[in-house]
Order: sequence, then C-alpha cells, then structure tokens
Amino acid sequence: MSIRDEIKNIESQFNSDYNLLTQDKLDFNDIKVKYLSRKGLLSGLYSSLSTVDNSEKPIIGQQINNLKVTINNKLNSFESSSSNINVGQFNEIDLTLPGTKYLEGSIHPLTLIIQQIKEIFNKIGFSSIYGTEVDTDYFNFESLNIPKHHPARDMQDTFYIDKEILLRTHTSSSQVHYMKDNNPPIRILSPGRVYRNEDISVRSYCLFHQIEGLYVDKNVTFSDLKGTLEYFAKQFFGEKTKIRFRPSYFPFTEPSAEMDVYWGLNSDSDYRITKGTGWLEILGCGMVNPAVFKSVDYDTEKWNGYAFGLGIERIAMLKYGIDDIRLLYEGDINFLRQFK
Ligand code: DAH
Repeated sequence: MSIRDEIKNIESQFNSDYNLLTQDKLDFNDIKVKYLSRKGLLSGLYSSLSTVDNSEKPIIGQQINNLKVTINNKLNSFESSSSNINVGQFNEIDLTLPGTKYLEGSIHPLTLIIQQIKEIFNKIGFSSIYGTEVDTDYFNFESLNIPKHHPARDMQDTFYIDKEILLRTHTSSSQVHYMKDNNPPIRILSPGRVYRNEDISVRSYCLFHQIEGLYVDKNVTFSDLKGTLEYFAKQFFGEKTKIRFRPSYFPFTEPSAEMDVYWGLNSDSDYRITKGTGWLEILGCGMVNPAVFKSVDYDTEKWNGYAFGLGIERIAMLKYGIDDIRLLYEGDINFLRQFK
C-alpha cells in the first residue's frame, strides 16, 4: 500500500473509531494509544516517511501532520466535554450537603370547608351542581325578581363585562339555571366563586365563595328550612353551637331571614369581626318567592321550597379562628401549612 493510501486508510479508521467512542462503544484510552502513542499508527506513518522520495517528503509530511492535528483536536475536545460529566457525576458529589426539600402541598381551607359542607348536606339528600361565574344580567338579577333599577341591586356592587354580561354576584343565579333544565322535586347545593366590587378590608374582598342550597317539593315549610340549617350548624360547628335567625329581605325569597352563629367576644379582634355583637352572619335564606318559580314555569300551586346562600369565607373564619379574610387569598405558605 502506498503511503498516501495508508494516510487515507488511517484517517477513515480513526473516523469510525471516533464514532464508536462517542457512542460509548470504545474506550478513550485505547483509541489514544492506538493512534497517538509511541508505537501507534501515526508514529508508524512518520517512520514510513523516511522511505518516501525526497521530492514528495514535504507534501506527505504535511498530510501526516494535518491528520495528527485533527486526531489530537478531536480527542482533546472529547476528553474535556466528557470529563465534566464524569467529574460531576461520580467524583465530586458532596455527600454532606443537605438534600433539596420539596414543599408538600395542603388543601386550601376554603376547599376543606366546601368539602365538609357538601358531605353534611349529602347525608340528607342534597347533591352538588355547578353554575357559571360569567353570567347574564337575566340569570343573576331579573329571573331572581330583581328587575333593572330595583334598589336591591345596590346591595351587590357588580362587575359588568358589558350591559348584559357580568361576573355573578351570588350563587343564587345557579338556582335558576338548574330549575330551567330540571323538574321538581329538587335538592341541590351549588358551590362556587362570586364577585363584588367591594372595598378590600379584614371583612370583605372583591371575590369570595358561596354555597347555594335549593329545595323544591310539595308542602315545604319555613320550619323545614330552619330544621335543616340547624342540623347543618350542629354538624358543622358542634352540638353546642348557638345560632339565631333574624328577619331580612331578599327579593328572591319571601319571607327571608339571615342566620348568625355565635363567635364570642373575648378579644379585640372578636369585637372587630362581629362589629361588637359577638354574632357573625353566615347565610341568607328564605322561602322561594313564587316570582322566581314563574320565571322557570313551575306551577306555583303545586310546588314551593326554600333556598339559602352560605358565605364560605365567614364560615372558614369562624371555624379556624382566622381574623383577616385577606389571608385566604394571599397564598402565604406559612398560613396555608396550618391546614395540613
Ligand atoms: N344571594 C344572597 C347573597 O348573596 C344570599 C342568599 C339569601 C341566598 C337568601 C339565598 C337566599 O338562596 O334564599 O347575599
């Protein structure tokens, strides 16, 4: 074989060996020895150079040098790139370093409360449905007996998206959606988020959560309503919980009431939260106004019922002794961790 062929031969051998090296199929040191050691292939080429005709020596010598440089460069860069990995992986792990701590999540207190309330009402036959947070003026107000310019609209400062579309101000809108699509008898809860354009303070926020309850059947009475809510309060807060009903006004119920739970008056924050009364209002309720049944074409001679709307934040605050509503939305890990 001529020396030119030998050079080409070694070059192509090296290329295929190098390929195998990058696939981890050959050992780095073996390749280095094979090509670059004193008895390696390149040294063999240099020895053969002496047999070449003088006129050709400079050209052939240059070709051998070029090949040597190529092989050296490739092996050097391979070594430095793989040595980084090796060092990091095997040689320099500091076993005394503390490990990475992953934070464990917990269920948000509002979710906990919603789950517990759903369970309590499930036991007496209420199932859950979900309404929509973006709704129309019709479902949020009109169908609930709150026509335009009705003073009750001032009770709820509304975020309007346009003239007809809004962020629901209460879960009561889901009552109408559900009744439109279903016939009585009805026993449902509808939990979810509601929005109001209110000043943010320890007691109120621009969004909060409610659970709506709706019961429609024959011959439903106000004492059915009271009994159900009393059952709920005792299950949820404990047998000894004190509750009271106060007459109130909602356009979609007649008569209407609000239910308070006794929170106590032991500290400054108790005074602040209960406005000095010791009582905290947790829900509005009443007998469904026949005007609402008319908007869903129910026969008001045949069917009647009750409805209620629970404020979840208030209940969470009562149950866990939280004295600032804003803690529920800020995502502070130190606060949330307590609910593991
Ligand atoms: N939707 C009322 C509110 O957001 C709460 C409410 C009151 C709901 C009476 C009801 C009800 O279902 O009967 O303030």
